[in-house]
Amino acid sequence: MNMINAVVAAALVLSAMPASAADADASAGKQKTAMCAGCHGIEGYKTAFPAVYHVPKLGGQHASYIVKALQAYKSGERSHPTMRAIAAGLTDKDMADLAAYYAADETKTAGK
Ligand code: HEC
Repeated sequence: MNMINAVVAAALVLSAMPASAADADASAGKQKTAMCAGCHGIEGYKTAFPAVYHVPKLGGQHASYIVKALQAYKSGERSHPTMRAIAAGLTDKDMADLAAYYAADETKTAGK
């Protein structure tokens, strides 16, 4: 009985945690970047509509920052219309995977 309580408590702790680095999958994230690459990751790229502005570079940013930013777009805390539309279709797992992929990018460009 105590054993069972411990297992249930552990499961509750785990399920209460946001998608963490532990289950983030950078290679799964890489596949999901197909829908991001059109805007992010192109050196010096600027969108043409509705206004010309710089698209932030994601590679090398901290994973937790990327997840926070995506959640903020999804919740409406950040109001950028394009990114709101994109983030609305992402699950927590998608966000964690994408963040893991982009954060890992740092090691590729480090030392350059
Ligand atoms: C149509 C172009 C477009 C697409 C597609 C797009 N983004 Fe963005 N993204 C932007 C722009 C523009 C901004 C800057 C918005 C702002 O000023 O808030 C941005 C901002 C962000 C930010 C915040 C960066 C920062 O430095 O604060 C993250 C994280 C992000 N995008 C992730 C993604 C991911 C992940 C995808 C794919 C699932 C994606 N974006 C697809 C245009 C795009």
